[in-house]
Amino acid sequence: MEKRDLIVRCIRTFNDFPTKGIPFKDIFPILKNPQALTAVIDLFEEYVRNTHPQVDLIVGLDARGFLFGPLLAQRLGIGFAPIRKKGKLPGPTISVSYSLEYAKAEAEMQEDAVSAGQKVLIIDDLLATGGTLQAAYELVKQQQAEVLACLVVVELKYLNGADKLKTTTVFSLVQY
Ligand code: PRP
Ligand code: MG
Repeated sequence: MEKRDLIVRCIRTFNDFPTKGIPFKDIFPILKNPQALTAVIDLFEEYVRNTHPQVDLIVGLDARGFLFGPLLAQRLGIGFAPIRKKGKLPGPTISVSYSLEYAKAEAEMQEDAVSAGQKVLIIDDLLATGGTLQAAYELVKQQQAEVLACLVVVELKYLNGADKLKTTTVFSLVQY
């Protein structure tokens, strides 16, 4: 089976979760299927090696960006650094507030997570309104690092999240 099809077959939709009107995409079955998880990392790796071979660091988002980010970083032989929800990271941090499709939140990164001039790829499981990736983008830019692109497994095209992220490219494996 084609890699993308294998991934699509593992994504489930739950309507009205976590609130009414939200068709929630559940990506966890991908992790239950080793071939599908390998397919995700293979497709990301292929894109990065072809398009951004100069990447220095993968930055991933709490929580579901942590499922794919370290695997991709290890495959590429580079490091991974986290952006977390407020109050989870020790030491000096920088933070940015953002709105989610169904909540408000604050994203934090340790001051020394990214160095000035580093070339960074940001990874998350899903792009909805773009608020989360936009916050990550701002945190990385605040550290004078360069964002090469944002990678997501799923992009909800109908929410136009990529429009919010005008200043950077979004690469997604599955679109709805
Ligand atoms: C979800 C999803 C993305 C974000 C996308 O995270 O994992 O990170 O929403 O939404 P946006 O494009 O509208 O910002 P959420 O914080 O809900 O939960 P998580 O901690 O399970 O990742
Ligand atoms: Mg998330």
